[in-house]
Amino acid sequence: MQAAQCLSATQFVLFGSSGDLSWRLVVPALFNLFLDGHLPTRFLLLAVDRSDKSEDEIALHYHQGITENSRRGAPPEDAWQSFSGMIRHVKLNVADQEDFQKLALTLNTIDTAWDCKAERVFYLATPPSLFEPITLSLGAAGLAQDRERVRLVVEKPLGNDLESFRKINDVLCRVFEERQLFRIDHFLGKETVQNILAMRFANPIFEPIWNRRYVDHVVITVAETLGVEKRGSYYEQTGALRDMVQNHLLQLLCLVAMEPPVVYDADDVRGKKVDVLHALRPIPPDAVDKFAARGQYAEGWIRGEKRMAYRNEPNVDPRSNTETYAALKLYVDNWRWQDVPFYLRTGKGLTAKVSEISIRFRDVPHRAFPASAGLNAQPTRLVIQMHPEQGIVLKFMAKEPGSQLRLRPVDMRFSYNEAFQIDIPAAYETLLWDVMAGDATFFMRTDQVEAAWKLVMPVLDAWAANPAADFPNYVAGSWGPESADLLVASDGNSWLTPTLAKS
Ligand code: BG6
Repeated sequence: MQAAQCLSATQFVLFGSSGDLSWRLVVPALFNLFLDGHLPTRFLLLAVDRSDKSEDEIALHYHQGITENSRRGAPPEDAWQSFSGMIRHVKLNVADQEDFQKLALTLNTIDTAWDCKAERVFYLATPPSLFEPITLSLGAAGLAQDRERVRLVVEKPLGNDLESFRKINDVLCRVFEERQLFRIDHFLGKETVQNILAMRFANPIFEPIWNRRYVDHVVITVAETLGVEKRGSYYEQTGALRDMVQNHLLQLLCLVAMEPPVVYDADDVRGKKVDVLHALRPIPPDAVDKFAARGQYAEGWIRGEKRMAYRNEPNVDPRSNTETYAALKLYVDNWRWQDVPFYLRTGKGLTAKVSEISIRFRDVPHRAFPASAGLNAQPTRLVIQMHPEQGIVLKFMAKEPGSQLRLRPVDMRFSYNEAFQIDIPAAYETLLWDVMAGDATFFMRTDQVEAAWKLVMPVLDAWAANPAADFPNYVAGSWGPESADLLVASDGNSWLTPTLAKS
């Protein structure tokens, strides 16, 4: 989000407006932007779906969604009255081109009433199967033509592999120009994630040591305690590698490994990230096990609650081969990072919900202290915490007070809550504002998504061709399968327990 910029009049057209995504994330985010005074005075939320719901019914539905999902809870009455006055509903059948002509008419009529040409955001909060027909119909109705003012927002999954991504993406790119396309990866809207760039490039002290001379390896962990909840059928087709690694974790890696941008804009920042993706060493199809590990959770206990095995979850095949855990060992083949391993891991049904990036520095080159001092009892690490804490911790060795020479690991800590004392905006708030402002820095460009798919394809293919013989291979409530430990142990490393999740 850019500072102190005002948005122009905006028509926000929400397809799939009665769905879960709109209810849980999109509308609560818009409402918070409104509360913070970030929405323009001329703002329209056009809820589009097939239903005959009245505007009052829709507003009531959103009121409940905000109450249950907004970081601020139930909407204050006055603010709600003003916000709900901006909501309108249009009934539309995706298969009916005439309905899109009517939509165009409605939007143009509002432009006339506002006496301006408003920014138009078409947000597809629909199942991915509708991305193509909606996009084509928007194009046919002339609704994509204004390259400056019109934007299309799509959510993942964009395809299930490289080929299907290209197919969907070709349709998007046939109708819209790349600069109009906003592909969401919600991790990129998180404050702590965006702060990686601020930390690295707004301070002179990190860059000199941010390379293979000083960094031993990098560990990126995104662990969840949740299982697949009601998303069994989606997850069965997806698995952890597609759901989390291909997008979120690779984006985190890019932010850690990228070169400094020349200017902080969408082209340059994304260009530098693509350079990292292109530098990632391809995973050899015949040696996938040396670079990737997969797991699936068995029944277990998480914080005193019994968790059923993945294979017993609703809408999951009792013999499912889908991975609920994935780990990768990657190398960025360039001058800065040659031979520094980047270990990525993510999974469901794990010990704790914790997301962090741990930069592990090399040991001191010469041990001047006696062995009894306990040097290297803990490696020096810089930990970027994204969840549940939000902050940065430097872990280093210090001398214990006293006459004996004893060294002990200590922490130097920056906490968002303590430093800023504000309620941090949700990722969707930041991202929706960026869409309305036309700033695509934290959205995925075609070449980024392609490169990410290319990287994971050998693993997806190998895993599909060789069903895991040992599934389920980790107990719910643990840190994942043994094969993931072996992946890093083969380099003499270990995952280390995340800083705030001592089990
Ligand atoms: C989504 C995945 O993209 O990210 C989910 O589809 C996952 O499976 C979620 O639970 C995690 O996001 P967050 O913001 O809760 O870490």
